[in-house]
Amino acid sequence: MQTKWLPGSYFLSQEELPDTYRPWILVARNLPKLIENGKLREEVEKLPTLRTEELRGHRLQRLAHLALGYITMAYVWNRGDDDIRKVLPRNLAVPYCELSEKLGLPPILSYADCVLANWKKKDPNGPMTYENMDILFSFPGGDCDKGFFLVSLMVEIAASPAIKAIPTVSSAVEHQDPKALEKALCSIAASLEKAKEIFKRMRDFVDPDTFFHVLRIYLSGWKGNPKLPEGLLYEGVWDTPKKFSGGSAGQSSIFQSLDVLLGIKHDVGEGSAAEFLQEMREYMPPAHRNFLSSLESAPPVREFVILRRNEDLKKAYNECVNGLVSLRMFHLSIVDTYIVKPSKQKPMGGHKSEEPSNTENRGTGGTDVMNFLRSVKDTTKKALLSWP
Ligand code: HEM
Ligand code: ALA
Repeated sequence: MQTKWLPGSYFLSQEELPDTYRPWILVARNLPKLIENGKLREEVEKLPTLRTEELRGHRLQRLAHLALGYITMAYVWNRGDDDIRKVLPRNLAVPYCELSEKLGLPPILSYADCVLANWKKKDPNGPMTYENMDILFSFPGGDCDKGFFLVSLMVEIAASPAIKAIPTVSSAVEHQDPKALEKALCSIAASLEKAKEIFKRMRDFVDPDTFFHVLRIYLSGWKGNPKLPEGLLYEGVWDTPKKFSGGSAGQSSIFQSLDVLLGIKHDVGEGSAAEFLQEMREYMPPAHRNFLSSLESAPPVREFVILRRNEDLKKAYNECVNGLVSLRMFHLSIVDTYIVKPSKQKPMGGHKSEEPSNTENRGTGGTDVMNFLRSVKDTTKKALLSWP
């Protein structure tokens, strides 16, 4: 297994692009205002077609990808009404796709952009806490995006020791060392508990109605989305429209890494949970994707625990699985608050319905939300080990 680079240990912070790219930054930093005064699309269409050669180094490239992702989402969805753009103009599409290709990321705002690359410390010498951090770009909806992106990042940070423990787990299995394995599994379980505590802060910082009626629209993609059934035409790049899923924490490598490590196998087949999660790997930075794939051939933890029939080991393994179950149960309650409930009550005298419409039933990643998330949670629960 490749261990020199681990997803959880890698966060970016880069705030400025070279002067050449000022036109992008001027638009990207003013999206809420430009959308409100109806000037956004016209400003985007006036942008010069910049090339990406001057963007040297991974961090600069990720920052530019983030800025272009924000501009693209704002251009397509604009005010979040039915006036949707199906064509991304060439002056934006060409550099965006060129950069996406270099980074091995899709040309749409993904979790790797809006969460992993979208933060700075207010006081550079201070800690990475919510209070000392801010996001780099904003969508309409006030501080809703700040809360949503930063809490997601904090969950990722809290869970990162679990990812860092993975090589220890693998080496314990390889060396048939149950004590070392038990210890590493317990540390994973402890960091999952911390991640859940941080996750709870979502309710302190993110208003459900603003999330549902404003922010989510800008995170939506063009795959499995009835509002853009054909996808988006990237002018000057491809001759036909392309479909890409919107930003979703389904694109985080944390949960997927632990599923693989613990031998949790989600439902397979067409339209299945496993298929979606596999697809989401294409939206991760290539290093995360490669880490997941190398983890697939790591020494099998679950089989080792089953073969050993050691109570302490089983308990430690189950604590990890339970940590994931508990996070996923909490996630379901969050989805109830932030998607299911607000989808039933439309503001401003709109039509109220008991059942959310087809569009509202879809996650920004394109899944049939509740069916997908319940299936993932149930499969995780079934991985708990018990023997007489
Ligand atoms: C998947 C909603 C926050 C982790 C999903 C999906 C939805 C969703 C609808 C299904 C995939 C899709 O179509 O997009 C929400 C909402 C959130 C939230 C409404 C907060 C308001 C988070 C956070 C994390 C997270 C903070 C952890 C970093 C996941 C994971 C999946 C997922 C790992 C893939 C399914 C799984 O492995 O359990 N989320 N999410 N979510 N979300 Fe969230
Ligand atoms: N995936 C989240 C949603 O669908 C952001 O709302």
